[in-house]
Amino acid sequence: MDSKERKSVNDLVELAKTIKNKELRKKTIDFLKEPKITNPSMKYGATKLKEMPSWIGAHHYYVGGLVDHIYSVTALCIAIVDSLENVYNEKIKRDELISAALLHDICKVFQLSRNQDGFEFTSHLLDHCVWACSELYARGFPEDVIAIVAAHGGESMNPIPRTVEGTILHHADSLDASVESLGKNYNSGLLKDLMK
Ligand SMILES: [Fe+2]
Ligand SMILES: [Fe+2]
Repeated sequence: MDSKERKSVNDLVELAKTIKNKELRKKTIDFLKEPKITNPSMKYGATKLKEMPSWIGAHHYYVGGLVDHIYSVTALCIAIVDSLENVYNEKIKRDELISAALLHDICKVFQLSRNQDGFEFTSHLLDHCVWACSELYARGFPEDVIAIVAAHGGESMNPIPRTVEGTILHHADSLDASVESLGKNYNSGLLKDLMK
């Protein structure tokens, strides 16, 4: 799917500014602006967030794709919360969900690096979700936020989402990835051919 307009790290920071809790807002913006693992034994350098695709050969596979994906997932989460709070008498942890949505994939910057042809995988053993949760814990994020990030892979991963907020992020993440890939296949003619 072609982006209408590429989103920037600043756009992510603008979404983070909607977090009402001052301490959580600051921690989220600091991590977004400097995706860094504080443990000195970390051996993988960070690719610039603004240059990252979301993954190699999967959804949002283009320079800036990760920022577009993070923005879209966070905006979807906010829209879902607006609707659920409007219809049901349930108070959803909006601040924690926005923080988790903005940071759920940020540690992918350690999984991909640039080469002359584009991007390649680093020799990492750990996954972006494990790194994110470890760093969130090190930076003193609340357990609520860590639990939402930890479960963003959904039912196929452990831990599975155990909270309303974790369930919202998982489905928004999966929806955004699927729709972007579907649009790409449609535009490349794959689906058009299948639908003839
Ligand atoms: Fe992820
Ligand atoms: Fe994601």
